[in-house]
Amino acid sequence: MQNHEQERGRGDILIVDDNLSNLKTLETLLSNEGYKVRGAPNGQTALMIMNNQPPELILLDVRMPGIDGFEVCRRLKQTPAIRDIPVIFLSASGEYEEKVKGFQNGGVDYITRPFNSDEVLARIKTHLTLHHLQLELTLAYKEVEKQVEERTLELVESNTQLKKEITERKQAEQALENHREQLEELVKERTKDLEKSNQDLQRTLNSLEQTQQQLLESKKMASLGELVAGIAHEVNTPLGIGVTGSSKVVDLTKEIRKRFQEKALSRQEFEQFLARCQNMGEIILKNLEHAATLIQSFKQIAVDQSSELKVSFQLKKYLKLVLSNLTPKFKNNNFKISIHGDEEFELVGYPGVITQILTNLINNSLLHGFDGLSDGAVEIHVEIQEEQVIWKYSDDGKGIPQAVQAKIFDPFFTTKRGQGGTGLGLHIIYNLVTQKLKGTIRCESQVGVGTTFIITLPRDPA
Ligand SMILES: Nc1ncnc2c1ncn2[C@@H]1O[C@H](COP(=O)(O)OP(=O)(O)OP(=O)(O)O)[C@@H](O)[C@H]1O
Ligand SMILES: [Mg+2]
Repeated sequence: MQNHEQERGRGDILIVDDNLSNLKTLETLLSNEGYKVRGAPNGQTALMIMNNQPPELILLDVRMPGIDGFEVCRRLKQTPAIRDIPVIFLSASGEYEEKVKGFQNGGVDYITRPFNSDEVLARIKTHLTLHHLQLELTLAYKEVEKQVEERTLELVESNTQLKKEITERKQAEQALENHREQLEELVKERTKDLEKSNQDLQRTLNSLEQTQQQLLESKKMASLGELVAGIAHEVNTPLGIGVTGSSKVVDLTKEIRKRFQEKALSRQEFEQFLARCQNMGEIILKNLEHAATLIQSFKQIAVDQSSELKVSFQLKKYLKLVLSNLTPKFKNNNFKISIHGDEEFELVGYPGVITQILTNLINNSLLHGFDGLSDGAVEIHVEIQEEQVIWKYSDDGKGIPQAVQAKIFDPFFTTKRGQGGTGLGLHIIYNLVTQKLKGTIRCESQVGVGTTFIITLPRDPA
């Protein structure tokens, strides 16, 4: 309040009164108080001043010739630019109706003459203050209104932005949804493709398995063919020698008969004939025997399932028995044989087959392992591991070179061709172990150290 008074002076007041002495008195009173005071002798002049240079407060005499105070006030209130200027009516009449009329016409106060100066000053001050406050309020209100408007604009703008974002978001969501649908479709297609290629793969696998089966069959046939060719080749030599020898004997006999019929046969010639016949006969016999042995071996290759009954027996005891029958082979040399392992455990299988395997292994040790050596030892170990029997056969002979080891189980592979070897021994052992006894056999050997065969057998082949 104080501030406003300092800023504006003490206020700009218009006094309207047709009584000049009254006008003068008031002018003096207010001027002395520091107000800026202007005077108007009638309503007409007052309205002009109000419109041109509006005051901050108007002291308005009610009764005036021409336009009276009430009319001036009414007109003032009809003009928007100045309607807020407070009007205090001045009148000699203190009648109640006139006061009411004053307020109804827009006055803010009503002062009755004769008045008390202090009261008038107090009322003027109060109304000016109120007026200033009202102006400030209006200004503040306008400021608020402006801010509200700005804020509203901002809000509208951000609303528009939000709407735009929502639309964009919806579009993005729609795009995502479309994409998801496409993806699902794609996944479905891929799954279908995969299922199809899986089926194709399965078919390929089936046909591969068939092909593999056929390959195995044809491999079997091929090895059988090789075997037959090998047998034929092996048997061919002794039989050929037999045939040649026999025809030679027939020719010699014919010759001798002719000489005898012609009575030209000398004793010496006859003795020569006899000697040659005997020699031929021996050659023929040796070769036929060899052929017979080959045929015998051939029979063994085809493992005969029905030839022997399955029985339960004690492996170590049985091996000892077989060895005692073979001892003549070890009689006149320094080769020793020993057997180790649990005496008691029983094995279900074919004892005849065990004999065959052991005989062949010992023959090999004597023929190959100890070839050219004066002494040596064979050790046999048997042990049981869970449901398997491990049978190890070792000699400390010459051993088998690495390159040879790969071929020893092949039919007709021998390093002693023409010296008693046919190359069927280990092939037969291999067939017996794997087919008849349902086991496995492998060889470990080192040149100069010896050879070991490890045979693993199920305790009871199904
Ligand atoms: N204990 C061994 N020590 C060294 N070499 C061996 C031994 N056993 C086998 N061999 C080698 O393995 C080859 C094949 O043996 P396999 O028993 O099949 O035929 P072979 O003994 O030569 O003839 P066959 O047994 O038919 O009379 C032999 O020629 C020999 O070279
Ligand atoms: Mg042999």
